[in-house]
Amino acid sequence: MSDFEPFYDVNRTYEDNYAQGPFGAFAQALAGDEAASAASADSGSAATPTATFLGQPVNLAFGIPAGPLLNSRYTTAAFRMGFDLATYKTVRSRAWGCNPFPNVLAVHPKSADGSLTPGSAELDEGVLADTNYDLPISISNSFGVPSQDPDVWQPDMKAAIAAAGPGQVLVPSFQGSRVEGMSEEDYIADHATTARLVKETGAKFMVMNTSCPNEGHNRLLCHNPLLVGRITEAVKREIGDTPLMIKLAYIPNDDDLELMVRSTVGRGTVQGFSTINTISARLVDKDGNQALPGAGRDRSGVCGNAIRGAGLDMVARLAAIREKTGLDFEINGVGGVVSPADYAAYKKVGADSVMSATGAMWDAELARKIKASL
Ligand SMILES: Cc1cc2nc3c(=O)[nH]c(=O)nc-3n(C[C@H](O)[C@H](O)[C@H](O)COP(=O)(O)O)c2cc1C
Repeated sequence: MSDFEPFYDVNRTYEDNYAQGPFGAFAQALAGDEAASAASADSGSAATPTATFLGQPVNLAFGIPAGPLLNSRYTTAAFRMGFDLATYKTVRSRAWGCNPFPNVLAVHPKSADGSLTPGSAELDEGVLADTNYDLPISISNSFGVPSQDPDVWQPDMKAAIAAAGPGQVLVPSFQGSRVEGMSEEDYIADHATTARLVKETGAKFMVMNTSCPNEGHNRLLCHNPLLVGRITEAVKREIGDTPLMIKLAYIPNDDDLELMVRSTVGRGTVQGFSTINTISARLVDKDGNQALPGAGRDRSGVCGNAIRGAGLDMVARLAAIREKTGLDFEINGVGGVVSPADYAAYKKVGADSVMSATGAMWDAELARKIKASL
C-alpha cells in the first residue's frame, strides 16, 4: 500500500486537500488537455448511453457520492477516470468550517470479515481506529460537512457540471444549516435557499443530505421523516420539477422508513433516495482511549468495507417498500462498495445506481474495473 496515493490525502488537512488536490491517479488524469478526450473514449463503451440517473442518460449508473470530491478539479478527474456519476461534496448556504485534523482514521472491526452490524454492542464498546490503512478498507470520517461560501462554490459547481463527458453527470449535494437562534421555519427556509443556489448553477437534479449530524451531536435529520417531508415541500416550491434525491443514513425500523417514503415521494416532492451514509461508532486507540482528539468526537461515522451489509440491507428494505406501496422512486445504493462484486450485489437487491466513496478513494480504477466486469 505504501506506493499508493488516494486522491484525497488523509495525511493532509481538508484545506490543503481543497487547495492542492486531487492527488495520485486523479492528479495524473487532470494533467493535460489530452486526458479529456481520452476520458470520453474510455468512460463508457456504448456510443449511446443506455442507463439513466434521475432522468439523465449515463454510460453506467456508477460513481462517487458526496464526500471525497471537494471541488471541480476532483469531479473532473473522477469523470476522466470513468466514474460517470461524480458528486460535488455537500454545499451549504454559507461558509462552514471543517472539524480539526485528523478527519480520517483507519477502522478495524473485530469480526473476521471486518463488518459492523447496526445496533451491535461493539459500536458502543469501542472499535479500534489508527493509521494502518489495510485492505479491504474501512475508515471513519469526521469533517462536520465544511462548505465554501456560495460565491465560491456556485461558479465552481457550474464549471464542474460543464466538465462532464458524454454519458456523465455531475451530482450536486446540499444540506441545510442549523445555527444558533434559528426557528424551525428558518431552518426549513435555509434548505430551500440552498436548493435555489444549487439550481442557479444549472444543475439538472440534486441530492439533499439528511444523513449527517446536522441536528446537533449525533442527531440526524432523517430520523424525523415528518420534518423531512415539510422541508422537501419548501424545496420543491423553489426548484419546481428539478428531480430531488434524499440522502439517508441507516434507518433500522421499517415503519420509520415507510413513513419517510410516504412523507416525501408520496407527496410528489422526492424522486429518489441515496443510502447509506456512515454508521456511528465509538472509536478507540490501541489503549482504549478516544481515538479522535477533541470534545464531541468520541463517536464518529464509519464507512467502507465495514458497512456493506448494512447498506445492502437498507437498499433491499427500500426496494420492498417501493414494491409494497407502488410508489415510484430511484434507489442509489452506497456503502462499502470496494469491488465489482459489491456493485453487482447492490444491483441485485434493487439499486438503480451505485456509488463508492471509500472504495474509490483506495482504488482509482474501480469504475474501470466494474465496467470491465460487465
Ligand atoms: C471523506 C468523506 C467525506 C464525506 N462527506 C460527505 C458529505 O459531505 N455529504 C454526504 O452526504 N456524505 C458524505 N460522506 C459519506 C459518503 O457519501 C457515503 O455515504 C459513505 O462514505 C458510505 O459510502 P462508502 O462506504 O463507499 O464510503 C463522506 C464520506 C467520506 C469518505
